[in-house]
Amino acid sequence: MSELSVNHLLGIKGLTEDDLNLIIETADQFKDVLSRPIKKVPSLRDITIANLFFENSTRTRLSFELAEKRLSADIVNFSAAASSVKKGETLIDTVNNILSMKVDMVVMRHSRPGAPHFLASRTKASVINAGDGAHEHPTQALLDAYSIRERLGKLQGVKVLIVGDITHSRVAISNIFSLQTLGAEVRVCGPRTLIPKHIESLGVKVEYDLMKGLQWCDVANMLRIQLERQDIKYFPSLREYTMLYGLNMERLNQLDKQIVIMHPGPINRGVEITSEVADSEHAIILDQVENGVAIRMSVLYLLAEKTVRN
Ligand code: CP
Repeated sequence: MSELSVNHLLGIKGLTEDDLNLIIETADQFKDVLSRPIKKVPSLRDITIANLFFENSTRTRLSFELAEKRLSADIVNFSAAASSVKKGETLIDTVNNILSMKVDMVVMRHSRPGAPHFLASRTKASVINAGDGAHEHPTQALLDAYSIRERLGKLQGVKVLIVGDITHSRVAISNIFSLQTLGAEVRVCGPRTLIPKHIESLGVKVEYDLMKGLQWCDVANMLRIQLERQDIKYFPSLREYTMLYGLNMERLNQLDKQIVIMHPGPINRGVEITSEVADSEHAIILDQVENGVAIRMSVLYLLAEKTVRN
């Protein structure tokens, strides 16, 4: 297969195993390009991409921007915090104004689940979801799968434990879909109040005891507590959360094997993970960030080939 089955990347749900493998294998080629002295290729020359960030971001925004520049695209950047949204302009007016500038592709982050889907239904441009509320974060899941495959040499049969605030995490949901489709086994771990009631209907087992989960897994993906998405108190204190679910070197040393540690960022050092673990050889956190550029180059390139070049 050399073409994606979709015109937009709105979520991992809806992608086929072939789609995921095509994105990952194309990212291998871009990773090679990124290791060369001249890191720029002309693949997206004459294609215009708008990066619309209605919610804060460091990694995803910079990573998309770098990926677009490496592919020679023309780009415009929109950040809600510095825009007329602050003067009361609506989402649809903002987006219509940007689209009237004849952009070919749109990368969108928004705090509302479904915002990129709404945009995709109203534009000819190809839309990429860079995170929509607690719904999906597809390129994060793709770079996570890529990074596990890079470290362990495979995804089939790999046991991945996702720890933390599953209820408010778009990273958890997208990871569950991508990893299961690619043959990995996924369990989630955290306090009962932060595990969605029907998560097992996705084929995911729940582990409430962190040490049992760590003993089971090959990879632990430590999530941040999403305080900005929590409208009520889900646990007594951050201190108690850290005592029960924080990853530290003492816990890692109690295991009878080495496991790979991941974190999507931003890290709350000392809460879900200690600095000692985050900065250790067990962690692939900066590899995840590095691989994000190759994955986003792959997604942009494949969608442009499907929707803009044809
Ligand atoms: N992982 C992630 O989405 O980070 P940002 O919020 O900084 O983009």
